[in-house]
Amino acid sequence: MTCRRRFGWYLGFGCVVWMTAASAAEPPPNSCLECHHAMEEQTRGPATLFLESDVHGQRGLSCADCHGGDPTSSDPMVAMDPSQGFLGKPTIAETPQFCARCHADPAYMRKYNPNLPTDQYAKYLTSQHGKRLGQGEADVAVCTSCHGVHGIRSKKDPLSPVFPTNIPGTCASCHTDAELMDRHGLPVNQHWEYSQSVHGQALLFRGDRAAPHCASCHGSHEAARPGAIAVGNVCAQCHALTRDLFAASPHKAAHESLGLPECEVCHGNHLIRKPTDEMLGVGPDAVCIGCHEPGSAGYASAQQMREAVERVKAQIAGAEATVKQAGRLGMDVSEAEFELREAETKLTQTRAYVHAFSPSALQPIAEEGQRHARAAEEHGVAAIHEFHFRREGLWITLAVLGLLIAGLLLWIRDLERSDAARPPTPPSPPASP
Ligand code: HEC
Ligand code: HEC
Ligand code: HEC
Ligand code: HEC
Ligand code: HEC
Ligand code: HEC
Ligand code: HEC
Ligand code: HEC
Ligand code: HEC
Repeated sequence: MTCRRRFGWYLGFGCVVWMTAASAAEPPPNSCLECHHAMEEQTRGPATLFLESDVHGQRGLSCADCHGGDPTSSDPMVAMDPSQGFLGKPTIAETPQFCARCHADPAYMRKYNPNLPTDQYAKYLTSQHGKRLGQGEADVAVCTSCHGVHGIRSKKDPLSPVFPTNIPGTCASCHTDAELMDRHGLPVNQHWEYSQSVHGQALLFRGDRAAPHCASCHGSHEAARPGAIAVGNVCAQCHALTRDLFAASPHKAAHESLGLPECEVCHGNHLIRKPTDEMLGVGPDAVCIGCHEPGSAGYASAQQMREAVERVKAQIAGAEATVKQAGRLGMDVSEAEFELREAETKLTQTRAYVHAFSPSALQPIAEEGQRHARAAEEHGVAAIHEFHFRREGLWITLAVLGLLIAGLLLWIRDLERSDAARPPTPPSPPASP
């Protein structure tokens, strides 16, 4: 099966080569591919992988474009002659420059794809990987660690190691390697924690590509730790409103002066969980009490903010029960439900406004939520009243009807009785002839 499919591929590839060759006068010789492919009958070596899936091959590049040498000669001593520009196999340390020869050359890359950025190498040099490589560490990530080699795919290809849902696994190939990370004094729990976070669950298990992968927060080529203050900018790529509220809050200056990481202090980084109301306030699970002592302004504010959230929730819960009851009685509750949805929206906004870190900013929104919930409650109560009113009306009607029917029956019986009491009429005399 595979054999036949691969044969088909080669046939197809052969045709492409033949057609390209036919259009040009001279067949472009490729001794590298031919000889190496012939050597790989039993293995999946460079030539096989290259033919199967490499983006460079698909763009008409081949072995000698990367490795140099003379692809017109089938004499290996000539084809792979270093004095004729054959580069051979680059070492790990040489690899970034090896790829950058083309990828950092805008004039060259523009001929193939004017939209493809040419900053990967420049960014790589600023990454922790690039810096350490420059210091002689050969076990950090280089281009081929993340992209592979001879089988490099476009980032849009779902099989590419840098396709969004595959990125965490690609980074984890090293960042869960305890021996490697030990050498660099780094923990190995990032991938494990990330996979359990709201983000990891969304991306890895539900395929939601709006959720961040490792490179969304660290950068791909420029991968490094975000600084304490820059964390907020990282999260702001997607949580812009939250970040705006935070930036205008008294916490902003506090974080800056104390060097506290912006969102991370309360949410963590890799193991970000779905927030709960318990995080807010002065209860045992509240994050606020980590810094705000009882008696301080922050402590009192945290308590007030939580109480405001609880008031909306309680109002909504009460209204919901009423509206449900009205619904069960078969009444039209669409207006009440609309108000309930508005109240829920305000509750969500109230929770977001926690990040203004000011009770006076949060309370008005909470109060709006309460107003909508109250309106829903009123609609619900009115519907229940209406139901009872109609039911009472029905009983009265039924009672009146019942009385009428009873009256009618009595009347009929009376009629029958008076008929029975009357003397029988004598038979009429026979008609005279
Ligand atoms: C006639 C056969 C033949 C031709 C033609 C040929 N090679 Fe090779 N090549 C070999 C053999 C044999 C080896 C050594 C075995 C191995 O490393 O797989 C080799 C090794 C290599 C290596 C690995 C060198 C290293 O340092 O480990 C590269 C890269 C390479 N060839 C690229 C090329 C390129 C590019 C061309 C065309 C310009 C080419 N070859 C042409 C047979 C050939
Ligand atoms: C996009 C650039 C690129 C192209 C195109 C390319 N190679 Fe390579 N090749 C590399 C790099 C980078 C390495 C070093 C890989 C590593 O570090 O393990 C390499 C390594 C090799 C090696 C050493 C053995 C190995 O597998 O690591 C051989 C042999 C080889 N290439 C042959 C080829 C042949 C034959 C072709 C054409 C079919 C080809 N290469 C096309 C970049 C390229
Ligand atoms: C730490 C992993 C990693 C390393 C090292 C790395 N890349 Fe990437 N690369 C990625 C990821 C992830 C993407 C896709 C997301 C993106 O575009 O940032 C990517 C995308 C690309 C793209 C497509 C860019 C685009 O915008 O379409 C090119 C080209 C590329 N890399 C080349 C390179 C080159 C050249 C090097 C070495 C100088 C390199 N990469 C090193 C992870 C890496
Ligand atoms: C001889 C020049 C050259 C060299 C050397 C080279 N590339 Fe490329 N690369 C290209 C061209 C041309 C493209 C196709 C661009 C296009 O059409 O989108 C490409 C495309 C790519 C893409 C796909 C980009 C995308 O997402 O669409 C990746 C990834 C990539 N190269 C990585 C590498 C890596 C890693 C190396 C080093 C091992 C390397 N390249 C070496 C010329 C080169
Ligand atoms: C080839 C293995 C390898 C791969 C693949 C790899 N890394 Fe790394 N990474 C390392 C090593 C080793 C270090 C430690 C460098 C040092 O000594 O500071 C490192 C360091 C880092 C750091 C800096 C940590 C610090 O303490 O400053 C970040 C952030 C990082 N990597 C993110 C990533 C991301 C994101 C990816 C995937 C897109 C990735 N890495 C892929 C090996 C790798
Ligand atoms: C939601 C954003 C986010 C995502 C997603 C993310 N990180 Fe991080 N990462 C951070 C932050 C924030 C830090 C802490 C930076 C600091 O301390 O300066 C960090 C720290 C790190 C470090 C330094 C060592 C450590 O654990 O503190 C490494 C290595 C790292 N991350 C790798 C990864 C890898 C691998 C992935 C994917 C599996 C990943 N990160 C996903 C935000 C993220
Ligand atoms: C690439 C976009 C992106 C980045 C960057 C990002 N997030 Fe998220 N975040 C999301 C998405 C999408 C969700 C919703 C996931 C889901 O469906 O459960 C989410 C969910 C959350 C949630 C849970 C919200 C809820 O109501 O359940 C929190 C908390 C969170 N992110 C905090 C952060 C923090 C802190 C950072 C920075 C360290 C960050 N995010 C970076 C996109 C992002
Ligand atoms: C990492 C420490 C830290 C955490 C955790 C923290 N705060 Fe703060 N907060 C500060 C600092 C520092 C200030 C500025 C100094 C001050 O006013 O106490 C501040 C100020 C405030 C202020 C303005 C002061 C005022 O007059 O009321 C409010 C409100 C506030 N925080 C609320 C909260 C709430 C609510 C939480 C929990 C969701 C929380 N904080 C968690 C450190 C923290
Ligand atoms: C001082 C602690 C603290 C800081 C700093 C903080 N948060 Fe929150 N965050 C909370 C609390 C507490 C909640 C839960 C509120 C609730 O559900 O009642 C929350 C809820 C959230 C939610 C879910 C609710 C919503 O807003 O949609 C997101 C998303 C979020 N935070 C993102 C961020 C981002 C991004 C940053 C940085 C700009 C950040 N947080 C900074 C304490 C904090």
